[in-house]
Amino acid sequence: MKTALLLPIYLCLLVFVHYYGANGYDTLERALRVKHLKRSPMDHATNNDHRDEYTYPPVDVGPQDGLKDADKISELPGQPDGTDFDQYSGYVTVDPDHGKALFYYLTESPINSSTNPLLLWLQGGMGCSSLGYGAMMELGPFRVNADRKTLSRNKYAWNNISNVLFLESPAGVGFSYSNMSETGDAIIANDSYAFLLNWLERFPEYKKRDFYIAGEEYAAHYISQLAYSILQKNKMANQTVINIKGIALGNPLDDYGTSETGTYEYLFSHAIISDEIYEGIVSNCNFSYGGKRGSVCNYYRGQAKALLSNIEQNDIYAPLCSPLANSTPSVTGGWLLTGGLRVLSDGASDGGQWLWSDQVSGFDPCSETYIRGYLNTPAVQQSLHAKPVNSWEHCNWNLVENWTDMPFTVLPWIKDLMASGIRVWFYSGDLDVKCPFTSTKHSISTLKTSVKTPWYPWMYEGEVGGYAVEYQNLTFVTIRGAGHTVPSYQPGRALHVYASFLEGTLP
Ligand SMILES: *[C@@H]1O[C@H](CO)[C@@H](O)[C@H](O)[C@H]1NC(C)=O
Ligand SMILES: *[C@@H]1O[C@H](CO)[C@@H](O)[C@H](O)[C@H]1NC(C)=O
Ligand SMILES: *[C@@H]1O[C@H](CO)[C@@H](O)[C@H](O)[C@H]1NC(C)=O
Ligand SMILES: *[C@@H]1O[C@H](CO)[C@@H](O)[C@H](O)[C@H]1NC(C)=O
Ligand SMILES: *[C@@H]1O[C@H](CO)[C@@H](O)[C@H](O)[C@H]1NC(C)=O
Ligand SMILES: *[C@@H]1O[C@H](CO)[C@@H](O)[C@H](O)[C@H]1NC(C)=O
Ligand SMILES: *[C@@H]1O[C@H](CO)[C@@H](O)[C@H](O)[C@H]1NC(C)=O
Ligand SMILES: *[C@@H]1O[C@H](CO)[C@@H](O)[C@H](O)[C@H]1NC(C)=O
Repeated sequence: MKTALLLPIYLCLLVFVHYYGANGYDTLERALRVKHLKRSPMDHATNNDHRDEYTYPPVDVGPQDGLKDADKISELPGQPDGTDFDQYSGYVTVDPDHGKALFYYLTESPINSSTNPLLLWLQGGMGCSSLGYGAMMELGPFRVNADRKTLSRNKYAWNNISNVLFLESPAGVGFSYSNMSETGDAIIANDSYAFLLNWLERFPEYKKRDFYIAGEEYAAHYISQLAYSILQKNKMANQTVINIKGIALGNPLDDYGTSETGTYEYLFSHAIISDEIYEGIVSNCNFSYGGKRGSVCNYYRGQAKALLSNIEQNDIYAPLCSPLANSTPSVTGGWLLTGGLRVLSDGASDGGQWLWSDQVSGFDPCSETYIRGYLNTPAVQQSLHAKPVNSWEHCNWNLVENWTDMPFTVLPWIKDLMASGIRVWFYSGDLDVKCPFTSTKHSISTLKTSVKTPWYPWMYEGEVGGYAVEYQNLTFVTIRGAGHTVPSYQPGRALHVYASFLEGTLP
């Protein structure tokens, strides 16, 4: 990176307490301790040297014969009867010199698998697992039950209409491994591309297939750089052309400046911080690249942080998993919260457990603990062809320490992708405070595109599912009542939006 600067980082800015779930990690504080981290704005749109980074020699594709058959999952422990689609999982070596291999999980469609498009799903974090979140908690075909042993079918799974490839990336996340401690955006783009080329050799039937990439939050970094990389490398002779058609970024972290600005707007407009704190932030903080955040600014930011500390940041109106579960259950019936009736059950170990009625979101706030339990079962790891590990975790926060490059903004890549003719969508669960829709609106205004179809409410099952606006080369959709992990909270609405994205029509 040409102009590497030393700056503190802010992961989704207000991710103070934990990332996706209530696991107690303090990402921001952790990240702030990373002194040697390099970040640069990298306005690659005007930097031809930077473009050269995408025209490396062709990737070495290793022999893949027989590996597809070996990767076929015969059955996952506790899988419901009547599973009518094929699943595969295993490793793809992306860098033999560093013993680096990435773990994937493919869920094919029950019907029309051979013609349906291929979606690559990437998780944010940074350093969180798309198997543990994307597949098991959001858009995958199964959800892990509270017993941590059995699975139930998600009837709004995205593999109904596409084949979905979940990648645990970067190396070091989940079951993916490497003997190199360094990672970073450029390395990840490289490795993901090498993964795809090797994987397509293992699954050659997907080589010419329509290809899409979607993901959440920090995955905006991975997706924009990988998609750009694919378009550049597609131009190189003698290498597999990846038929990329579009990208979808969910509650993206695409620019640290717009992210922070939008977050405080969200907190203010959702009655979480006071007028005084908001005014204090607006008049003392400059969140632009290179802008000043002095001690007065940080004082007000600290106040905002404190006020948010007992709220589920993935969905500001959702209950937390642990606190009530650990208290004596005096209420055995149930009580109404976010419209969902929840009943405390026994067995409140490992973060407790809730039984939910299927009203409104129906998302169980303790899902993460069930998933962790399930994926740490030896029989499950074996059925997935994963290397046995003692403690599979959703996120590897240690990776952040050795993150070599992290652009302040990826909007220049997105601007290039918009002009390339591929489909570019942003979508946003409107109850998320980590990467709220207000931030995305600022990012869009930075992209300086013009409205083609003005903001309108879209309908799903007779109700407003959210709002949408079409710009030149860009579509933005909100999902009403959804949190950070959109399909967890609003599975039906999320699938509806995803289907529109694939069809290239507005929802
Ligand atoms: C990483 O692992 C590979 C394969 O096991 C080995 O050849 C290489 O020397 C290792 N590299 C480092 C930096 O340890
Ligand atoms: C499968 O593809 C056929 C032909 O394109 C289409 O008519 C049918 O609706 C598809 N079925 C599903 C479930 O996607
Ligand atoms: C998923 O596909 C099946 C088979 O085509 C269909 O019956 C079902 O309605 C689909 N589910 C949703 C939520 O669209
Ligand atoms: C990306 O891969 C190419 C070879 O495929 C290598 O020359 C280059 O150094 C890699 N870049 C990074 C940042 O890993
Ligand atoms: C193209 O690929 C083929 C097969 O891998 C190889 O034999 C040939 O030498 C390559 N040509 C160039 C110009 O790299
Ligand atoms: C914020 O900081 C940037 C970078 O130093 C500067 O260009 C900009 O003018 C500042 N904005 C305000 C409102 O002071
Ligand atoms: C980061 O890199 C340094 C130097 O390679 C290494 O000593 C340290 O263990 C790494 N940290 C992590 C969490 O991998
Ligand atoms: C939209 O794409 C076209 C080319 O496909 C390009 O000329 C135009 O600049 C793009 N506009 C925006 C705002 O990205």
